[in-house]
Amino acid sequence: MFTERRTRLATQMGANSIAIIQTSPVAYRNNDADYKYRADSSFYYLTGFPEPEAVAVIETFDSPDEYTYTLFCRERDRDMEIWNGYRAGIDGAIEDFDADEACAIELLDEEIIDKLINKEKVYYRIGSSLDTRISQWIKTIQSQRQQAPEQLVQLNPLIDEMRLIKSSQEIELMQKAADISCEAHTRAMQTIQPNMMEYALEAEINYIFAKNGGVPAYSSIVGGGKNGCILHYVENNQPLQSGDLVLIDAGCEYEFYAADITRTFPVNGKFSPEQRALYEVVLKAQYAAIDAVRAGNSYYEPHHIAVKILTQGLVDLGLLSGDVDKLIVEEAYRQFYMHGTGHWLGIDVHDVGAYKIKGQARPLQAGMVVTIEPGLYIAPDDDTVEEKWRGIGIRIEDDVLVTEKEPHVLTANVVKDIDAIEQLMAG
Ligand code: GLY
Ligand code: MN
Ligand code: MN
Repeated sequence: MFTERRTRLATQMGANSIAIIQTSPVAYRNNDADYKYRADSSFYYLTGFPEPEAVAVIETFDSPDEYTYTLFCRERDRDMEIWNGYRAGIDGAIEDFDADEACAIELLDEEIIDKLINKEKVYYRIGSSLDTRISQWIKTIQSQRQQAPEQLVQLNPLIDEMRLIKSSQEIELMQKAADISCEAHTRAMQTIQPNMMEYALEAEINYIFAKNGGVPAYSSIVGGGKNGCILHYVENNQPLQSGDLVLIDAGCEYEFYAADITRTFPVNGKFSPEQRALYEVVLKAQYAAIDAVRAGNSYYEPHHIAVKILTQGLVDLGLLSGDVDKLIVEEAYRQFYMHGTGHWLGIDVHDVGAYKIKGQARPLQAGMVVTIEPGLYIAPDDDTVEEKWRGIGIRIEDDVLVTEKEPHVLTANVVKDIDAIEQLMAG
């Protein structure tokens, strides 16, 4: 599948071109301790190569059907491998990762020059740390009085568009990430106890991810009570109180593909009347928005539908007053719903791909995966509403595949209807 992607990219690059794609650097955490390494998403998409310090080079010649793939990577090194683990090395790059040629990463500056000479276009991530290196390479070529490439082209849009439409193999991996994440959320509902710490509940989630070969796709949010109103709450260090809801936004990354699920449920297993009333509004909005995830609909259609139902619900419950359409035009709902209804999902949790084309909302197409995640967040200090509503934060988030027919919810294996949640939590 990686070869097929490189071939498609080469075809789009045109003749006499070169694409240079580097992976992410190792991220330093603190003295002598790095974060666990995770390759750059687009680099991985094209190469399947998980090691750091690697650069992929794709060159086309007189015809874009004819191309070569060179992988610059770390050489094998017995001492370094004893300390830091296995490396594919030059032979592995060719044998296991299908490179036509492979070269030590230290030789990149030297070896790239010949590849660049007489090429017309260089595709790379403009705005990355390659900017300076490419300028230097071009200067070197010019100082040798050779023909340097004249066009520097932004590579991202080409790869982003490819990544936006998922193949059946990708969907399988996303389904696996979704299944693991559903199991994790189910376990959280089953194991929660009043007075448990938020981080202890997070540990239940992480346990299921890790047991299944996954890692968190992003920092999990486990927010009890008013912490559920903080959109990016990641401290997860407070006790979970009986009578509060807990909002968990957590998704597994499996073989580089992410899931992204939010569930909100009562710490003691029973929704209060206010929690129930708001939850039902969010759930209704979520079901209706999911139903709009259909090929041909605008990407923004699910958001418009969610906003309409949420605003109507806020008016019905007395949290907003006035004409619903007017409140929507004035964006009055933003007091309680201040984010969008979703995003692309894939190798990145906020996956790549344009949301608009020439300023126009793009139509959904089969193979795209979006999240649908409406919510309502009543700030704990919002004195424009009755006290009973304050500090309630609710979001419900699922991952939805666009098909030629019905929307396909990848994350359907964890309950979200009130009765089903209460039943599951009652054991
Ligand atoms: N978990 C990040 C998001 O929902 O967008
Ligand atoms: Mn999301
Ligand atoms: Mn999320």
